[in-house]
Amino acid sequence: MIPESFIEEVLSRTDIVQVIGRYVKLQHKGANWMACCPFHKEKTPSFSVNPARQFFKCFGCGEKGTAITFLMKYKGLTFPEAIKELADNLGMEVPEDPSAKVREAAARTLTDYLAQAAAFYHENLFRDRGTIEYLKGRGITEATARKFQLGFSPDAWQGLEKVFPGQSYFDSKLEESGLVIAKEDGHRYDRFRNRVMYPIRNPRGQVIGFGARTMVPGEEPKYLNSPETPVYHKSRELYGLYEGRDAIHKKGRAIVCEGYMDVIQMSQAGFEETVAALGTSITPEHVKKLFQLSDNVYFSFDGDAAGFKAARRAMESTLSTIMDTQTAHFVILPQDEDPDSLIKKQGAQAFEAQLSASFPLSKFFVMDIVREVTAGRGLRTAEERAQAVSIAKPLLQRMTAQALRQLLVQEFAAAVRMDPGELAALCGVTLVKETSRSLTQSTTAGYGRDVNQKERFKRPLKPVTTGPVFANIKRRLLQCLLVHPQWLVKYSDRIEDELLDTVDEYEEAIVKLWHLATDHVHKTADDKGEHLTTGYLLSFLQNDPLYEKLVELVDQEATLETSADVAEYEIKCAFLKLEKARLDAMIMELLAMEERGEPVDSEFIGRLFKRRQLIHQSLVQESTEAVDRIMDSVLS
Ligand code: GTP
Ligand code: MN
Repeated sequence: MIPESFIEEVLSRTDIVQVIGRYVKLQHKGANWMACCPFHKEKTPSFSVNPARQFFKCFGCGEKGTAITFLMKYKGLTFPEAIKELADNLGMEVPEDPSAKVREAAARTLTDYLAQAAAFYHENLFRDRGTIEYLKGRGITEATARKFQLGFSPDAWQGLEKVFPGQSYFDSKLEESGLVIAKEDGHRYDRFRNRVMYPIRNPRGQVIGFGARTMVPGEEPKYLNSPETPVYHKSRELYGLYEGRDAIHKKGRAIVCEGYMDVIQMSQAGFEETVAALGTSITPEHVKKLFQLSDNVYFSFDGDAAGFKAARRAMESTLSTIMDTQTAHFVILPQDEDPDSLIKKQGAQAFEAQLSASFPLSKFFVMDIVREVTAGRGLRTAEERAQAVSIAKPLLQRMTAQALRQLLVQEFAAAVRMDPGELAALCGVTLVKETSRSLTQSTTAGYGRDVNQKERFKRPLKPVTTGPVFANIKRRLLQCLLVHPQWLVKYSDRIEDELLDTVDEYEEAIVKLWHLATDHVHKTADDKGEHLTTGYLLSFLQNDPLYEKLVELVDQEATLETSADVAEYEIKCAFLKLEKARLDAMIMELLAMEERGEPVDSEFIGRLFKRRQLIHQSLVQESTEAVDRIMDSVLS
């Protein structure tokens, strides 16, 4: 690990023009530097480097990014390697973490050993009639066996001596990798014997462990798996992720099954986007990994007691991880079926039908809890409903996705025949209606900068800005802030007011950028963030799931070239529009309450109206002025 502070120092001192200039002959043209693109063949230069933004872009082939991404793409470097090169250029020395180096070296040899073993088992497969017949019997084709590098471990105590002859069989690394078991008396033998071998790969394609299935009916254990090793952590890794990653991207969804054979059979049937946990329950780490690859995740479980239990664990892991822009679905298969058997009996379309009939998270949440309480009979008594609520409470509390939680509360309230507000209060979570009610009753100071009130207003009314119109407004707001980061500093208060309780990816992105920007201004000095550049901020988000989207937005700006003052104007308008939407929602809510005869503070409503009117006017006027200015000038 390179220390964060060192990376910051390197990035702040790096100039993209110099970095790229080392590899590409750049020519000054206006504010930018141009060259023939190093990423594709061309005769006239369309590769442009923007020093103000610290960003490059090729108008020909579309390559784009920061100084770091340039080095990564151009030279095929990893992130730490790119940082190292940037540091070298600046004459800075990367502080080495010796333990990390040793760990890396050790890990590398483990995966080497495991890769050699996997190759050996794989070769064996084609020599062993029994295994070939077994796989054929399960409907696995040769191509599929090759894709997953399936293998056979020979029925011998020291079969791996063929790969690690003589003294090398006694290498402690072989034991550490989990391939060999060492007795105290120094005696050693292969862990995996006479089994079908399923190599487990990490996302980089390295073999990190094995699942091994017996072919002897009734033999226990059915599956023997690699132990935890420095390279293999079963709570983190997913079987089939390396093989299925491209399909997950392409299809925009990931399917999670329970078993190795399910993944393989699914992949062969065209569901290449399938993965499985490795004989453990689905952890939040698994879910996070999946949602990094796709916003749509389908969990499939066998329709037996074990399947329901696994589904509950997966749901719990999902609740704590999922964001409002993401969806999770749950498939419960017919009793005694797994994806493998279902596809073999009824074909791929039978599984596709299961996917279409799957339960979205909110429905599954209700169904699963009711099933737990009443064993599928449906809630009858008040006691049962109370029990259901007590199960739901900790689950709702662990959620961070506000809008989604609201939906779950509503669905669940209907099932237990409660008012959503009461249910939310009982579970200690906030709801739109609930809070706006208590808020009006205690309003004395009025609408303003009063912290308490601001808090109370903001949170419950957030979902009002989630529609497509607001998505566009926020997207543009994000874009303007991203290409002119000084406004992140200037409009810091507004960002805090309107966006801290993020409801969508645009808000999330703005808040992330805002944190980065404010972290990098010197609060004591009179620093307005003029030194911040787009590329500098982006460099910190290299591994962020939002990274590609941000780059896309900067990329568009290469054509739009919005100037700083126009961007500022747009930013102001966007914030006003967001505030106006909130005011509208508040006013509507208060008027509805008044209609119902509930106590409301009419003076307070009056103030809201007034503020709304002011915003409305300023939005109209400001744009009229702008239009006037444009009318008076001519196209030059
Ligand atoms: P097949 O019986 O070959 O179809 O395997 P499967 O993938 O359908 O396995 P099953 O549904 O029985 O179990 C699901 C997953 O749980 C397997 O893929 C393994 O990861 C794990 N598992 C099953 N049996 C055992 C076992 O005996 N020991 C261990 N450690 N894990 C097991
Ligand atoms: Mn099975």
